[in-house]
Amino acid sequence: MKKNCLIIALLFAAIQMQAQKFQGLALTPPMGWNSWNTFQINISEQLVKQTADIIVSSGMKNAGYTYLVLDDGWMAMQRDSITGDLIPDPKKFPNGMKTVIDYVHGKGLKFGLYNCAGTKTCAGYPGTRGYEYQDARFYASLNIDYLKYDWCNTDGMTTKEAYTTMSKAIKAAHHPIIFSLCEWGSSQPWQWAKEVGQLWRTTGDISNLFDGIKDYGNWHANGMMTIVDMQDTLYKYSGPGYWNDPDMLEVGNGMSANEDRVHFSAWCMLAAPLMAGNDIRKMNKETVAILTNKDAIAIDQDAAGMQAFKYSDKDSLQTWFRPLQNGDWAVCFINRSGIPKNISFDWKKENVANAFFNKQLNAAVINYKLYDVWTKKDMGSTANQLNAVIPGHDVLMFRLKK
Ligand code: GLA
Repeated sequence: MKKNCLIIALLFAAIQMQAQKFQGLALTPPMGWNSWNTFQINISEQLVKQTADIIVSSGMKNAGYTYLVLDDGWMAMQRDSITGDLIPDPKKFPNGMKTVIDYVHGKGLKFGLYNCAGTKTCAGYPGTRGYEYQDARFYASLNIDYLKYDWCNTDGMTTKEAYTTMSKAIKAAHHPIIFSLCEWGSSQPWQWAKEVGQLWRTTGDISNLFDGIKDYGNWHANGMMTIVDMQDTLYKYSGPGYWNDPDMLEVGNGMSANEDRVHFSAWCMLAAPLMAGNDIRKMNKETVAILTNKDAIAIDQDAAGMQAFKYSDKDSLQTWFRPLQNGDWAVCFINRSGIPKNISFDWKKENVANAFFNKQLNAAVINYKLYDVWTKKDMGSTANQLNAVIPGHDVLMFRLKK
């Protein structure tokens, strides 16, 4: 009898230990680098190794970038004909994927891969449909830390069911992996995916365009501000461990430095995952400075995980507020137009409050010091009305310190 009790207790403890492995996987929005925005399927062992080296030497690792994720194009066109396992493309990865992953882990970074819920990935490589548990075991055997899971070629499938199956398969493989859902917001994953994965795309693909839509004929990509517009009502649905993902970064991919600043500021306000998507082997100083701005990143990574809400949007000028954990606030004024805009903001007269978070700025009673996240200057306090000029396609972002 005593022996049976002991066995049951040990089993119970083992189950709990397994469950704990999956807890706290993304208490703050994941940060890292993903190959897609710049390289599409043109990836290789050399690119991964060089990128891992630069994540460390550029200061990105110290700033918090941890996950190096290979997107579509890492596989051979067919699964192994005997085992059914996925095969890394032997030309791109001549020494196999494990060598590459060990290299990345050796740098103190984490490693992620991509696949798709459908029969094929968006670029036509073998998808996971029907192989969920086998692929999850394969990823566990490779010791990966992150899986981005796409939604092409999914005729007849339903999102919630397909992503739940993969989530269960990952857990059954007993290896903790961040699960990144990429169904482009089509079935409002923020309504159901909190128990399924740690982040979900909220929109179709981003492009290196400040505003508007890039039309490619049979598909289109969104400008950065067009994506910002779609995030307005989503603040209720993210928090520590589950994040809205407005897509990977286009910083350093062709927008101007001030446009990149708007992009990075908006993502940090939105508590968005920060996945750099540029060729970091060739970035200029300005791009490094934007990607590693520690004050902006501190806002993104704020432990309370409250996503910004839009306070006002008038004459191409948007104002976003975000309550932070220690009673501080972040504020971001975005000039969407191409011409300079004057702003004046009387903190004491404005009623900045959010019922969902139960937070109120209350500058009439509390005097906050203003810290400019981009110029790194103290800019007075909320005792005085703010008067400033924001250049076209630029931003003014403060941390309001208690
Ligand atoms: C989709 C995703 C992108 C990228 C490509 C890869 O378009 O939304 O982020 O993963 O597929 O083919």
